[in-house]
Amino acid sequence: MSRFDEEIDRFGTHSVKWDMMEKIYGVPAKDGLSMWVADMDFRPPACVQDALQGMLDHGVYGYYGDNSAYLDAICWWMENRHGWTVDPKSIFSTHGLVNGTALCVDTYTAPGEGVVLFTPVYHAFARVIHAAGREVVECPLVQNGGRYEMDFDAYDAQMTGNERMVILCSPHNPGGRVWTRAELKGVAEFARRHDLILVSDEIHHDLVMPGHEHIPMALVDDNVLERLVMMTATSKTFNIAGSHIGNVIIPNESLRAPFAAKMAAMGMSANSFGLFMATAAYSPAGAEWVDELVGYLDGNRKIFDAAVNSIPGLASMDMQSTYLAWVDFEGTGMTREEFTGRVQKDARIAANLGPTFGAGGESFLRFNYATPRRRVIEAGERLQKAFGDLQ
Ligand SMILES: Cc1ncc(COP(=O)(O)O)c(C=O)c1O
Repeated sequence: MSRFDEEIDRFGTHSVKWDMMEKIYGVPAKDGLSMWVADMDFRPPACVQDALQGMLDHGVYGYYGDNSAYLDAICWWMENRHGWTVDPKSIFSTHGLVNGTALCVDTYTAPGEGVVLFTPVYHAFARVIHAAGREVVECPLVQNGGRYEMDFDAYDAQMTGNERMVILCSPHNPGGRVWTRAELKGVAEFARRHDLILVSDEIHHDLVMPGHEHIPMALVDDNVLERLVMMTATSKTFNIAGSHIGNVIIPNESLRAPFAAKMAAMGMSANSFGLFMATAAYSPAGAEWVDELVGYLDGNRKIFDAAVNSIPGLASMDMQSTYLAWVDFEGTGMTREEFTGRVQKDARIAANLGPTFGAGGESFLRFNYATPRRRVIEAGERLQKAFGDLQ
């Protein structure tokens, strides 16, 4: 038995994933399976729990000072897990990476200017861009052999000169792509051709399935550093999203000053719980736990995909990373209301709706399989039953 097999009841804990499932999707709390929001139903590693316990035992929760151990831990992780040497002076701590994205949009673009997204993509990007009064420029990913690829000729033709920024999701949510060096170089060159700030959201970089290698954008090409903002976090990797802490890493000194000024203008400083947890997580003990986690997620992925792909008309994309299955219902010939209704009402599963990820997501649902394996097996069985007439 794996430590990840333990079924932890999350109801009544203010878990958005479980406590909001019925209200948002109409999936009954009594026997529903929550497979939407991207957090995991697992406890973080003992090193993180011990750090929090240490805070509780001490019992005084004042302002945090001296972040050298925290910065050292980030640098250690990036060097040891990603072969990327980070200058501690280039690191900013934000309240998570949605906040990091919003700060980048606010710092480097003006109202009315365009921010390029390769869609479908993580829905909060568009939400933040719209809320800031900027324009979302959707560059559609192309499906080739069941995976997403980019078409830079089409994107070049689409640019109007009003664009100021491009946000890349690397690895990609929801398509699971671990972009190759050539693809990443293509994005860097696209950013240079159109003089765009390049924000690379690498929050899923630790959750890469065996056989694939994530390459940090900062290592792709020296020329990209002048326009690059890297974003990484402990939140997905260690399942501590509620700690709301993220790393915004800015290699170019002249891009750092306006970002620092924006944070100062907003009166931002980090939350000590997040700092303690992240420092503990980025450690050899944390690394060992992540290796075990990735093996477990890979097992869940295979089980879920096999069940889904056995249903005629359903196709689960081959995930190279993340714990999110991106399932296409196009082949069923059903309307969106019908296939979504079957998943929610018949299978009693809450999954993210494809259209929220932008153009190209219309016929998809996204399922989070970072949950104990028994539930993943059960989800597969429920889907097979709900679409049993297609067998
Ligand atoms: C690509 C991406 N960026 C950011 C986030 C959320 O980041 P945070 O919780 O740090 O705001 C997610 C969560 O799913 C994500 O997939």
